[in-house]
Amino acid sequence: MEKHIVVIKGDGIGPEIVTEAMKVMTKTAEKFGHTFHFEEVDAGGCAIDKYGECLPQESLEKCLKADSVLLGAVGGPKWEQVDKNNRPEKALLRIRSAMGLYANLRPAKIFPHLSHSSPLKQEIVEKGIDFVIVRELIGGIYFGAHETVTQQGEKRATDLMAYSEQEIERIGRTAFETARKRGSRVISVDKANVLDCSRLWREVMHRLSSEYPDVAYSDMLVDNCAMQIVKDPSQFDVVVTENMFGDILSDEASMITGSIGMIPSSSLGESTNGMYEPIHGSAPDIAGMNLANPIGTILSGAMMLKYSFGMQQESQAIEDAVSKVLDEGFRTGDIMSEGCTRVSCSQMGDLIAARI
Ligand code: IPM
Ligand code: MG
Repeated sequence: MEKHIVVIKGDGIGPEIVTEAMKVMTKTAEKFGHTFHFEEVDAGGCAIDKYGECLPQESLEKCLKADSVLLGAVGGPKWEQVDKNNRPEKALLRIRSAMGLYANLRPAKIFPHLSHSSPLKQEIVEKGIDFVIVRELIGGIYFGAHETVTQQGEKRATDLMAYSEQEIERIGRTAFETARKRGSRVISVDKANVLDCSRLWREVMHRLSSEYPDVAYSDMLVDNCAMQIVKDPSQFDVVVTENMFGDILSDEASMITGSIGMIPSSSLGESTNGMYEPIHGSAPDIAGMNLANPIGTILSGAMMLKYSFGMQQESQAIEDAVSKVLDEGFRTGDIMSEGCTRVSCSQMGDLIAARI
């Protein structure tokens, strides 16, 4: 197969980690007889510096035409003062929205090699952590009207949260279908004791659950969910939730695996192209130092092969290579522990590519 992949290296450690993912993907393509054409486009803070805008039209058009998009990270303190409509993060939100990527899958899975890096007690970790957060990505408060007005000398800000039945139903379907391929359990997370959006959310999810009798379904309030994730994460298989709750819970879920640098994500809509990115940020404090952990981005590449290109074996080859390198004791600084060999970002990429 021949695939055209747009890469957005972005800001901070973005360029370093994406370079390693491209290295591993290129090796995988060679091994399995495919050709991947990578095209770099600018978006985020680096695009503000170059063109004065976070997402040049040309970059967006290239994303829309690509077979898939790989993104490193955007943002950083340098652009904190930029107008809110041109912040680096806006580039990400606009791409998600323009590509119609409503379903964001964020796995929270503990790597056996790294279980001692989890901040949770070992007795909790030993029960197992392997769930996926299905986050609605192009609706809710992120995309409602945002406004700050001054009334009688005092500022007042509003952010509007809205959801339609159709928006809830399509993400619900993704969750139930995902559960069928895993442990057949869905927990829908909301704040139905306070919010209308959540009451509608719950109503639609209940309706949908009757179409999936083979999937065990229950509801959970978001504050309780935040607590349960640290108390007993083994209870979760698929968690489905709205945009902002998903943003918050997915950071919490990644933290308990002890390795935010290792977690990939996929964002998909109706079509098979889509965007893949690690869930961590641009880590400006270590940018350009060849210290970052590229594994989250490399595994995002693996997800792309599986979900956008239907390349199961190729995707598995990348996951196996990552496991092998960890088995052999190689670690970047963020996951380093006694008795292991510390390697740089580019060395980690080389080691993984060599094991494809
Ligand atoms: C994420 C990030 C983004 C989000 C930011 C950078 C806009 O935190 O992908 O989780 O809130 O969606
Ligand atoms: Mg986030």
